[in-house]
Amino acid sequence: MLQFLENFFTEASFIPHGHCYLWQPSLVWLNIVSDSVIALVYYSIPAILVYFAHKRKDFPFKWILVLFGAFIISCGTTHIMDVWTLWHPTYWVSSFIKVITAIVSAYTAVALLPIIPQALALPSPSQLKAANFQLKLTLQELASTQTQLIQTEKMSSLGQLVAGIAHEINNPINFIYGNTSLVNEYTENLLNLIALYQQNYPLTVPEIQALNEEIDLNFIQEDLPKILSSMKMGADRIRNIVLSLRNFSRLDEAEIKEVDIHEGIDSTLVILQNRLQGKKDQPEIHVIKEYGNLPKVECYPRQLNQVFMNILTNAIDALEESVINSQWSVVSSHLSVVSGKTTDNAQLTIDKLVISIRTEVVDSNQVMIRIADNGCGMTEAVRQKIFEPFFTTKPVGSGTGLGMSISYQIISKHGGLLKCISAPLQGTEFLIQIPTRLKLS
Ligand SMILES: Nc1ncnc2c1ncn2[C@@H]1O[C@H](COP(=O)(O)OP(=O)(O)OP(=O)(O)O)[C@@H](O)[C@H]1O
Ligand SMILES: [Mg+2]
Repeated sequence: MLQFLENFFTEASFIPHGHCYLWQPSLVWLNIVSDSVIALVYYSIPAILVYFAHKRKDFPFKWILVLFGAFIISCGTTHIMDVWTLWHPTYWVSSFIKVITAIVSAYTAVALLPIIPQALALPSPSQLKAANFQLKLTLQELASTQTQLIQTEKMSSLGQLVAGIAHEINNPINFIYGNTSLVNEYTENLLNLIALYQQNYPLTVPEIQALNEEIDLNFIQEDLPKILSSMKMGADRIRNIVLSLRNFSRLDEAEIKEVDIHEGIDSTLVILQNRLQGKKDQPEIHVIKEYGNLPKVECYPRQLNQVFMNILTNAIDALEESVINSQWSVVSSHLSVVSGKTTDNAQLTIDKLVISIRTEVVDSNQVMIRIADNGCGMTEAVRQKIFEPFFTTKPVGSGTGLGMSISYQIISKHGGLLKCISAPLQGTEFLIQIPTRLKLS
């Protein structure tokens, strides 16, 4: 055994490998450098494999990395031995290292075979990317369905409430309104009769005279017609509001209908009237309408009203916020609609809160509705996100971030386009372009 080990490490009976190169320096150096570089590179690969295994703890075939490492280290060592044997002919040692390399490499090759099907079954990066993309789409679809459900629920309860109120008020107000002309006529007759009595029977009975003075008959004769006329006006106004409420909720109508878009905008404005009126610390919001001669539009009227509601509510919110921050847009080119000027660089000075609504025919089968406000406007970053579900810049509890995303979906469903132009302190304008004949998409 001892003898074997001695032979194993001995160099005595062999010629150094350098002799084969006739000790030509250039050939010797060429071999030294190339074998050393190969060995260095081989030794560095296991280090990279260790780093990879450390970073990717979920890598399923770690043991194959160990085999690769062993195989590569032994390959590197054979090259070191090639340099060593140039001078030291320990060929038994270098051959033994080659045997080890052969065994490890053969084992690695055999071990690789059964894992090939498993490795092939692993999803490729492009497959993972595609699956990821599909998941993202599904998630977006889910989010959009959720927004639709929430908004539909919100609008449906609002619609039902509005329709309920309108229905309840409708009968009594028609009763009052219908009778005001009769009351007017009767009162006029009675007043005429009293006047006739006064002319023909001068007041001689003290009791009648006292009551006459007490109730100030002259004043009543003068004031009663005025009161009746203002009562008629009030009843007329309530009737119109009820009509608008019914129009807004459109619960009594089929889903798709040909409607006058202006009716929808007007009834939405009636519902928002309370917010448009000036309050203690809030100036009045002026609504400037410039309605074109639009044909009837085939649409889902309730949904379109919902879009007007969302855009107008946002405009009012923006104007209110501008008042709080004292920075509403005094100059706005978008609001050129206010003055009817459409020149590109028409800059006009607006010192009040304005919402302008302009409608126009685009071509024989498209109409455009522009709703602009001279509120605070928005930054480009905000503008790019407003149609995303749940995006809101409003404080928690006051905005759900659904209004514009649902409006976008509604307009798309109508085969139309919804665009937003806005910049900080430049106001905001929404452009709704829809076909007059419904193109279901
Ligand atoms: N006219 C506007 N002026 C300025 N910012 C606006 C205007 N319209 C929309 N925005 C911005 O777009 C965001 C999204 O509007 P969206 O209507 O979708 O949600 P919201 O108004 O915040 O909440 P809600 O779901 O209650 O309508 C708003 O939070 C606001 O920042
Ligand atoms: Mg909103």
